[in-house]
Amino acid sequence: MSRIAYVNGRYVAHADAAVHVEDRGFQFADGVYEVCEVRQGLIIDLTRHMDRLDRSLRELRMTAPMARTSLTLVIREVLRRNRVRNGIFYLQVTRGTARRDHFFPAAGTTPTLVVTAKNTDPAAMARKYASGIKVITVPENRWDRVDIKTVGLLPNVLAKQQAREAGAQDAIYIDRNGIVMEGASSNVWIVAADGTLLTRPAEHGILRGVTRTTLLDVVARLRLSVAEREFTMDDLLSAREVFFTSATGSCVPIVEVDGKTIANGHPGSASAAIRDAFLDVAEKTPIW
Ligand code: PDD
Repeated sequence: MSRIAYVNGRYVAHADAAVHVEDRGFQFADGVYEVCEVRQGLIIDLTRHMDRLDRSLRELRMTAPMARTSLTLVIREVLRRNRVRNGIFYLQVTRGTARRDHFFPAAGTTPTLVVTAKNTDPAAMARKYASGIKVITVPENRWDRVDIKTVGLLPNVLAKQQAREAGAQDAIYIDRNGIVMEGASSNVWIVAADGTLLTRPAEHGILRGVTRTTLLDVVARLRLSVAEREFTMDDLLSAREVFFTSATGSCVPIVEVDGKTIANGHPGSASAAIRDAFLDVAEKTPIW
């Protein structure tokens, strides 16, 4: 079965899906995006993803490509046409196509909208949950507005590649004071030495992950001790558990940081319990 993408009003073969060379996303990274999980034919936390998309658009003074109800229909149609049961959809909005000029294009320029979808392999994810992953740390070198989900991801790309070349799977940003910020495409959590779950506040300096927000609901349901508080590299290395959250990975245990083993080197029980309870707590929207 061939993949189908939605580009500016048309459903096209994925292989032919394209935007103009003067699309502002291509030329200036002048665009925002969302990645949303689909599990067992259910869209996970759609409302929170759409709310964050609206916020990203607002913060950058970009026009929404269409009303939320229409956008939801497009998303569902892309998922249906690609027969996605377990996977993701990717949605990108840019400020549109215009002759290259740093200033905003003329008012009324049509935003670009692209939606793609793909299946992922639940067995591969299960293996990741069972083994945990290795990460490296990298100095925070991103701009000040990483709370906006823009497609300007070059630092993240470089950090991930650096991790791969170091024999690890991912990277964590650490600021100049040794404070743990977030992963290159995820939020970071620890179970501190005293048993408290910690994730840093999301008011500034990180993306407010949708999975992170739903996980706060999950830990409340499980009655685990939790705090939204900054923690340091030392806290990370002495933690009982470290894990990532994101729409693509749910809750992924980290067993090694910069070559140092976390706890006993095996995924912990808190992340497993949280992962088990996640689907129950998350918002679920059937595709059909
Ligand atoms: N990334 N922080 C960053 C820098 C991210 O890129 C992401 C998600 C998150 C987690 O957000 P959420 O729980 O809403 O997925 C945190 C997506 C998955 C990506 O870029 O592919």
